[in-house]
Amino acid sequence: MDPRYDVLDLAARLAHDYLGSLAERPVGAQATLEELRARFEGPVPETGEAPGAVVDALARDVDGGLIASAGPRYFGFVIGGVVPAALATDWLTSAWDQNAGGWPVAPALSVVEEVAAAWVRDLLGVPTGSGVGFVTGCQMAHFTCLAAARHRLLADAGWDVETDGLHDAPKIRVIAPEQAHVTVEVACRMLGMGTGSVEKIACDDQGRARLDALRSALADGDGPTIVCAQAGEINTGAFDAFGEIADLCDQHGAWCHVDGAFGLWAAVSPTRRALLDGCERADSWATDGHKWLNVPYDCGIAIVADADAHSASMVSTAAYIPPPEGDAPWPFAWTPEFSRRARGVPVYAALRSLGRDGVARLVDGCCDHAVRIASRLRVEPGVEVLNDVVLNQVIVRFGDDDAATERVIDRVQEDGVCWTSGSTFQGRGVMRISVVGWQTTTADAERSAEAILAAARAVLG
Ligand SMILES: Cc1ncc(COP(=O)(O)O)c(C=O)c1O
Repeated sequence: MDPRYDVLDLAARLAHDYLGSLAERPVGAQATLEELRARFEGPVPETGEAPGAVVDALARDVDGGLIASAGPRYFGFVIGGVVPAALATDWLTSAWDQNAGGWPVAPALSVVEEVAAAWVRDLLGVPTGSGVGFVTGCQMAHFTCLAAARHRLLADAGWDVETDGLHDAPKIRVIAPEQAHVTVEVACRMLGMGTGSVEKIACDDQGRARLDALRSALADGDGPTIVCAQAGEINTGAFDAFGEIADLCDQHGAWCHVDGAFGLWAAVSPTRRALLDGCERADSWATDGHKWLNVPYDCGIAIVADADAHSASMVSTAAYIPPPEGDAPWPFAWTPEFSRRARGVPVYAALRSLGRDGVARLVDGCCDHAVRIASRLRVEPGVEVLNDVVLNQVIVRFGDDDAATERVIDRVQEDGVCWTSGSTFQGRGVMRISVVGWQTTTADAERSAEAILAAARAVLG
């Protein structure tokens, strides 16, 4: 063993200590902003320190400012944990330090990513010929998918957007549910289509796009059109009616894009797969590995049925880059990055360690915990569960009052047994509970429900 790398053993021990503390440490951060700044601030070090001293000090100083989101009772935002095989593989991905941008510089990892992509296509039930890009998150997955949409729609209208840009190009309409995740609009902004190109359509009480609204929006205009649909609304976890949306897109020649940041993984669950009926007819799908697949940050996945449009909008070449050899994998074709980390490798490891049935158990387990928490909460006077718990999301309102709901959320966060975040759903303040971690047990779900009820009782009296 080369002693210069002894620091890796220290890192492994510190990681073990941290991960071993997850189940019982307070879930929220304990240190204040001032405390954290005081620990890290200082001038640029003039001389270096031993690697072990740096790692040791860093691990000591971040503690208290860490959120136990990889643990069993973190239900904030939509933040998954990390399964051990993916974590260990992520470390090795750093140790190997391959530039996964291209086959010539990362032969083995390009093949691992190629296989991971095939497994993802199979598990998510999308067409086998689809392009798959491992990007940083669902935000960049939207960007990538909508860049492919922009390419295809404008090419069909006789416009080469990659060469000529958007000046004087036919305008692209983007139709999205009013409950669409903000990252869809941000992707449109980054792609030069502008947030102004996004036409919002009304949703029902679960945040599903209303078909009558989509029908009339499509009838009200023409030209190149993208319709965005949702598999797993951010608050309620609801799914749009994909079959009907696909029919409407076919009638109007529109590109159908699905935001399935977490909800697309329902495809792996035999009991919840039906929520996605018709979703396989879409043109592109954006999802995450770092949410429900429980791989470490960061990992999003962009999937495009029209692989030619995908690669035409993303591929980069340069004189110093050798051209693709035969059918060797060519990751440059699928992501906006030129150089990048091989973030598909932890995906491969997660899928290999879980297997199809393990992913299904992960998804179903989280959904069952969400149902359990909702059932426990909804029987309490003054506590209202606002959504149909079809997936892993629960939204709850306390005392039918925004301020009371806010106070319950604050109490839960301070108490530290579990951690939930807040949101506004259709104009009303809510607590959002999102179960996406592999570590959560039935006992954790029950303990968390009790902690939320205790906070509610303290606030509502
Ligand atoms: C439905 C949905 N879409 C998109 C995103 C953005 O994903 P990311 O943070 O990975 O970019 C999220 C994040 O929570 C989400 O829940």
